[in-house]
Amino acid sequence: MIRKFRFGKPFDTEAVVEHIEAENGIEKFDNRYGEISITDAGDSAFCYRYTMSDNDAVYGLGEANRGINKRGYIYVSNCSDDPIHTEDKLSLYGAHNFIIVDGNDKFALFFDYPSEMTFDIGFNKQDLLFVGCNKYDLDLYLITAESILDIVKEFRTIIGQSYLAPKFAFGYGQSRWGYKNAEDFREVVSKHRANNIPLDMVYMDIDYMDSYKDFTIDSKRIPDFTAFVNEMKNEKIHLIPIIDAGVKVQPGYDVYEEGKANDYFCKREDGTDFEAAVWPGLTCLPDVLNPEARAWFGEKYSSLIDAGIDGFWNDMNEPAIFYTPEGVEDFKQFYDESIKDLKEIPSFELVGRTVGLANNKNDYDSFYHSINGERVCHKDVHNLYGYNMTRAASEAFGKIAPDKDILLFSRSSYIGMHRYGGIWTGDNNSWWSHILLNLKMLPSLNMCGFLYIGADLGGFGCNTSRDLLLRWLALGVFTPLMRNHSADGTRRQEVYQFEHIEDFRAVINVRYRLIPYLYECYKNAVINNDMMFKPLAFVYTEDRIARTVEDQLLLSDELMIAPVYTQNAIGRYVYLSEEMMFIKFMPDGSINKQILDAGHHFIEVALNEVPLFIRKNQKISIVKPARCVDEIDISTAEFIGYC
Ligand code: GLC
Repeated sequence: MIRKFRFGKPFDTEAVVEHIEAENGIEKFDNRYGEISITDAGDSAFCYRYTMSDNDAVYGLGEANRGINKRGYIYVSNCSDDPIHTEDKLSLYGAHNFIIVDGNDKFALFFDYPSEMTFDIGFNKQDLLFVGCNKYDLDLYLITAESILDIVKEFRTIIGQSYLAPKFAFGYGQSRWGYKNAEDFREVVSKHRANNIPLDMVYMDIDYMDSYKDFTIDSKRIPDFTAFVNEMKNEKIHLIPIIDAGVKVQPGYDVYEEGKANDYFCKREDGTDFEAAVWPGLTCLPDVLNPEARAWFGEKYSSLIDAGIDGFWNDMNEPAIFYTPEGVEDFKQFYDESIKDLKEIPSFELVGRTVGLANNKNDYDSFYHSINGERVCHKDVHNLYGYNMTRAASEAFGKIAPDKDILLFSRSSYIGMHRYGGIWTGDNNSWWSHILLNLKMLPSLNMCGFLYIGADLGGFGCNTSRDLLLRWLALGVFTPLMRNHSADGTRRQEVYQFEHIEDFRAVINVRYRLIPYLYECYKNAVINNDMMFKPLAFVYTEDRIARTVEDQLLLSDELMIAPVYTQNAIGRYVYLSEEMMFIKFMPDGSINKQILDAGHHFIEVALNEVPLFIRKNQKISIVKPARCVDEIDISTAEFIGYC
């Protein structure tokens, strides 16, 4: 059952697509599910409080830090471009305000609120679940059902069916910030092909553009783009360019000129175009919350689609701001007034001021959208920007190429964006802990409707190592987006950079053997508003141990995954709530099978093996590996199962 409670005058985020009659929140909210207070006094104008009992677990929040069970920490929905995902970080790139309380009471809440919102889940007071924000304009959805899985299904039904990615998007993708020209891309393809490593996609990071200008190609680097896209197509490779949110301020650049002439950019208070520096230098932000500007920006993707492109990744759309001219002016003033004449500098303040130029709250507070004739301050709708940039592209694809299946994913998101594209989880690092974080985010994202998801395998920042990459790929075998991506300046991490390439081939081949099965699972999850990845707690609801397992997941109805995520490990411990068949994909292509009883086990897994568990009375199909999705031969399918 779903009830919708209205407080104040909410902004229509369009996260929910089903019409539900709103009840007066103050009068009608059922106190059994928490207490709500509202005040006009600044901070925390809206407060929700629920007293958790000892064994209550709290799930949800999509792309958020820490555990699958969110209890014990504090999280802030505030889409942020922060590339250092340490445990203390409160905000990442997405804002997914959906939580489930699983205990004596079972219920879920969706706080449909597009600005900053705090979820303190037993952090300041261990039994208090607190949710607050500083305006009381929101819709709060309360969902109750027999089981947690039913609750998720009900929620997913009201937010609408998730984006369905094309099948080729389940292939392996190679990416790196730093590939600069056609030769670099050709080398990536030929080295994969020559080494017999399957590959379907090569990602084009910002260097393909002319001076980082959206929808341009640097013709010195790629002289005939359409011919190049075709050449890659003949190699069965999809080129996937990046599109950034900011449009370079440059007189004569058509996208800039059109946006400016039509008032399609976000404005300062005085009505001039707001400017913020990102990769190209100063940029203007397309006002994607304004339907007309959104349609205009989306239409811009057509030039690349006309050249044969069938996939995009939308980036820097929190929106990320390196600095603004106003911020620089403040900094100069601080310098003139506080530092210029000093012999010793106040170093902490100086560092703070410098770092604080980026993604500064004052900047987000100082620009405006024009939405259906109304001026709306960005800070009140901040978390909707990436969502609407991706919506712009997706809505335009329906017009530009209605018959084409286009891959689309975004860095920033809000619930609702799941209907338009997938996400990748941004700039992680080559840290072992980030393999586990990748795993933990999968079910949380699924709860919120995001099904085409994945992390930068091998880690984006820092230098990867051979063993870390192999272990991470062995998890990536199961994630819808399987992409190796890394930052400019870090150690090269294409699989052919490392010794014993056959080990990498063995792991990536397993992905291709599973693609028909995995794509089916994914598609079914999309169609049925289901989760592809479930915490053990959602299925083995009566098993106290299973409820606390955070490093294993159920995949669809048939499988359990349990990747190795520690350095120098020869395997790992797993917990089985029921008897299962433990299988290992071996480097020679054979499959080891062993029945394991319910309980704790240590399983040995070498770096070139992929572990998997099949549940009792279940089977899955596997095929022969292929060099790309298009060449998978379904007639080679065989079943492995356990009846
Ligand atoms: C951002 C993206 C990253 C990309 C880089 C350069 O940091 O998250 O994936 O490589 O920008 O475009």
